[in-house]
Amino acid sequence: MAEHILIAIAWPYANAEIHVGNITGSHLPGDIVARYHRLKGNHVLMVSGTDSHGTPVTLRADAEGKPVEEVYKRFHDTFLEVFCNYGITYDLFTSTHTQNHFKVAQSIFLALLQNGFMFTQKSMQWYSPSAGKFLPDRYVEGTCYICGYEGARSDQCDKCGNVLEPEKLIHPHSKTGDGSLELRETEHFYLDLSKLEPDVKRFLRERAAHMRETVLGESLGKIEAEGLKPRPITRDLDWGIPVPVEGWDGKCLYVWFEAVIGYLSAAIEWSHIAGQGEAWRQWWINPEAKQFYFIGKDNIFFHTSLWPAQLMGAGKTFLKIFAGEEQALTLPFDVPANQFMNLEGDKISGSKNWAVWARDALTRYDADALRYYLTANMPEAKDSDWDWAEFVTKNNGELVATWGNLANRVLSFCYKHWDGHVPDVDVQTLRSVDLELLAVIEAGFQTVGGLIEAVKLRAALGEAMRLATAVNQYLDQTAPWSAVKSDKSEAAKTIYTALKAIDSLKVLFAPFLPFTSERLHAFLGYTEPLFGEQYTESVTDALGEHTVLRYRPPVHNIPRWAPSPLQPGQKLNQPSPLFKKLDESVIAEERARLGKQV
Ligand code: MF3
Ligand code: ZN
Repeated sequence: MAEHILIAIAWPYANAEIHVGNITGSHLPGDIVARYHRLKGNHVLMVSGTDSHGTPVTLRADAEGKPVEEVYKRFHDTFLEVFCNYGITYDLFTSTHTQNHFKVAQSIFLALLQNGFMFTQKSMQWYSPSAGKFLPDRYVEGTCYICGYEGARSDQCDKCGNVLEPEKLIHPHSKTGDGSLELRETEHFYLDLSKLEPDVKRFLRERAAHMRETVLGESLGKIEAEGLKPRPITRDLDWGIPVPVEGWDGKCLYVWFEAVIGYLSAAIEWSHIAGQGEAWRQWWINPEAKQFYFIGKDNIFFHTSLWPAQLMGAGKTFLKIFAGEEQALTLPFDVPANQFMNLEGDKISGSKNWAVWARDALTRYDADALRYYLTANMPEAKDSDWDWAEFVTKNNGELVATWGNLANRVLSFCYKHWDGHVPDVDVQTLRSVDLELLAVIEAGFQTVGGLIEAVKLRAALGEAMRLATAVNQYLDQTAPWSAVKSDKSEAAKTIYTALKAIDSLKVLFAPFLPFTSERLHAFLGYTEPLFGEQYTESVTDALGEHTVLRYRPPVHNIPRWAPSPLQPGQKLNQPSPLFKKLDESVIAEERARLGKQV
């Protein structure tokens, strides 16, 4: 039975361009898992969007002296371009600045209020008398009162990963140079996470068997040690989603509180603009649906504790407010958070220009070459490092030498000696060496598939590469290049077998290397594509116009995650190499481009 799989990917803040660390951290792993499930014939919905509110975005606009609206849209447009060109197949990549998202977020807020999980409280917040306003979250930096890190933001410490209480920050100072700060009283809504703590613990314990150690430690481990405390979920800001309660003008929902709701609102928006009615319910009001959240390690608390608490606290009341019926929302299945990717041994830093920018890298390298390195080096269990020398070595030694050359060599040879067709062999006459190879490759659908389902993507790609090596060994052993001259019918069996193996490998590699697998698929004579197409579309609502990225699935619905159906005699198309060998000079060139600042 086909499953419903929600692929939910962290919403990037509209304050910086996307770099390779962001791609390997969340967008690429999400896309690999999405493509795998689509190939299996499951019902996938993959969503994300631009996180367009909050102080990360307003600070950037302040620094540029431009309207926030203009700044968030500019970054949003670069995101659409990057995801499209890397083949990150969002069914919908939207933004939090839409009327639909406002409505869904406000409904969740009201449901939590009605269910008694919210209270208001006065507290002291940093205020700038010279600017005449409160300075929430990132507007204030200082020393972390937990770990002593000096560059902590008032709401979150990047060093120890803790969520902070702003008034406890040591040596607070304004990020925008708004003079000296004082604490002033203000009133906010608090989400009473302590009331939801037993539910969050149960939720995490039920998933402990398949969640990553690193994720469990940061969530269940932390809650068991420290408990969950109430958190303020409104802010003194005018850019964002208004608090839907009378008398609360001039305050907005906290960016994290509303951004996570985007996973739900984007599914609803997708249903509507895709003309799919209420289809979002199949991923959101369905206890059988599996939801995967792809995020970086700095987002763990918000996805394993805050978001499930919001969902359980809103409970059946959300749908009552939103659509007049009472049903509970689906909870996350897995949150496979990644660690960070460094660059040449140092932390990636946009402000120091110590980064490989995703858009820029694509002007010199193919998407699949980048996807390959980013998967082989994905920071799944610990931080990893982008190293230009290793990029070249892996590209040339693995992608080109093991897989690309295999496919190209066998296809070109066959195209030339069998007149552009798969050799017309009688499959009854295949030798044991052929059948053994095909059995080994066939087993790959279980092993590679199992690893992808467990979100062990490095291992899954390694397994596919190991199978490509097995085909190379088979060819060394059977030597069709010489056999073709002495006994063409024996060579035909080898080439038929190798083509079947390559046709299967094409599918096993497809979630990772979709562009080249699609080309290979066409060389092998198939007329229906493996994957659908990406495109952008403009949507207008009461808040204005926003452009979204979408994915149109192929019209056929052929499950592809299965051993090769290639037939003897099938017509092929003229092949050409799938990958490019890189010159060693690339290493020095790219290192020079980085221009390290000391
Ligand atoms: N914008 C956040 C970041 O870049 C991630 C938000 S994920 C969401 O760290 F689900 F809350 F949107
Ligand atoms: Zn800290």
